[in-house]
Amino acid sequence: MATMLLLNGPNLGILGRREPEIYGTATLQDIEKWVAEEVAEAGWGVRSVQSDSEGDLVRAIHDSHDAVGAVVNPGALMIAGWSLRDALASYPHPWIEVHLSNVWAREAFRHESVIAPLASGVIVGLGPFGYRLGARALISRVVPAAGAES
Ligand code: DQA
Repeated sequence: MATMLLLNGPNLGILGRREPEIYGTATLQDIEKWVAEEVAEAGWGVRSVQSDSEGDLVRAIHDSHDAVGAVVNPGALMIAGWSLRDALASYPHPWIEVHLSNVWAREAFRHESVIAPLASGVIVGLGPFGYRLGARALISRVVPAAGAES
């Protein structure tokens, strides 16, 4: 079965109880389920990896070169995750960056992402729905007939 990588960085394992006024009440398990639903129609499965350590995320990317692509929320590693950036630079498939919150409406240190220039696209501020959109965007990139307009 074709599989997509769902990659979540530091502090995203406690979604649901992490600053719910910013990140909402959905848990990572909820998001995994919604992404799985979204890609099921394409016949894909989901490999979900969350880690608070950058090295684990780098390793997950290396180990997922056989996946069809990825949806990545780097968390705060967006700001200075250079080894994460380099791992994504050599990732041979499309990937979409997602942020739950609207980082542009927040502190200035969240206004730049070191990985964004490499992403196929970036989705911010739409909460968990952004992951669904990211999964759909990935399908449109990987299965050309699914995204005829792109
Ligand atoms: C986040 C935004 C980041 O700035 C923050 O460090 C996170 C979550 C988001 O999904 O909105 O950990 O990536």
